[in-house]
Amino acid sequence: MIYLDNAATTFPKPDTVYEAVIECMKNYAANPGRGSYDMAVKAAKKVMDTREEIAKLFNVPNLFDIIFTSNATEGLNIGIKGILKRGDHVITTVMEHNSVLRPINYLRKKSVKSSIVGADKYGFVNPKNIEGQIRSSTKMIVVNHVSNVTGSIQDIERIGEIAKKHGIIFMVDVSQSAGTIDIDVDKCNIDIMALPGHKGLLGPQGTGVLYIKEGLKVSEFKSGGTGSNSYSMRQPEFLPDKFESGTLNTPGIAGLYAGVKFIKETGIQNIKKHEFELTEALLKELKLRDYIILYGKENMEDRSAVVSFNIDGIDSSDTAAMLNSKGIGVRNGYHCAPLVHEVIGTKNKGTVRISLGYFNTFEEIEQVVKALDEIHGGID
Ligand code: ALA
Repeated sequence: MIYLDNAATTFPKPDTVYEAVIECMKNYAANPGRGSYDMAVKAAKKVMDTREEIAKLFNVPNLFDIIFTSNATEGLNIGIKGILKRGDHVITTVMEHNSVLRPINYLRKKSVKSSIVGADKYGFVNPKNIEGQIRSSTKMIVVNHVSNVTGSIQDIERIGEIAKKHGIIFMVDVSQSAGTIDIDVDKCNIDIMALPGHKGLLGPQGTGVLYIKEGLKVSEFKSGGTGSNSYSMRQPEFLPDKFESGTLNTPGIAGLYAGVKFIKETGIQNIKKHEFELTEALLKELKLRDYIILYGKENMEDRSAVVSFNIDGIDSSDTAAMLNSKGIGVRNGYHCAPLVHEVIGTKNKGTVRISLGYFNTFEEIEQVVKALDEIHGGID
């Protein structure tokens, strides 16, 4: 099949990722950080090595500030619910995924106030509009780096400057950019950042990462065994243990290590270049067809490899079903980002989304365009 749903999870993974998971499962999937026998030590070393590689990828100075989670949603929940308290104000945007909007909505019941900043019709948020919402009670700004609907890339460097200037915590959801766009937490003044391991980092599902800047106060999310301070009933206060209770997903983390290694060996710039060229080729073809309604920027300026569209007169779910019958996998609907659809005018229909990855080819672009022509009945 032709897989075009890389914004949901990347597929395929590099062979080294599959091999690493199996190797760990078969040879050293003991509980990391719990025992002192060889297998447990090997598991703990793999976890630590992965932490180190991820820290280097994002220019995080202290590898212990890298926490393993089960996905980006978990990291976003830890940050949002662990920082915001009664009376605090948070600023976010219409471009967010429900993994940000729902925790913030939940906190409304706990008297946390929120402002949701709008975007232009291409899905770009003006940083000045974020600054305009700042009040004395504003504790945090939460921003999605790259939209999973329009592919628009927000100016996190500028938003980070604003947050720093006003002494506000800056949290970034880098679910759609980690592994495909260079991110430097220091340069962007990021205090806290969540990402999945199974998208751009090419690891297995069930892996995620949360970065928390040293010294930032975040309440614990879950409590339990950490393998450290085990005689005490109190949750450790130090990172990463504070947020890593329970057995880690060691085979998943071993796969994630291989994914990150693949990215480093290939080069983020090369991954980005290939995805850029594929997206440019797809947009060029889609723009030639009058029956296609495109959403987001129609050129490659500040956009990623996510392309949303509809075939005029055909429901997004029908288009996706017809593509599936031709062996092409795309996502349709709202993509768990409800407010974006008010911005791009797809409130009652959602979009068909093609999201390209490093392993897609130009032939696959030709095939999907041909399939769309067949579904529509030819070029207008
Ligand atoms: N957030 C993922 C997507 O956009 C699952 O498909």
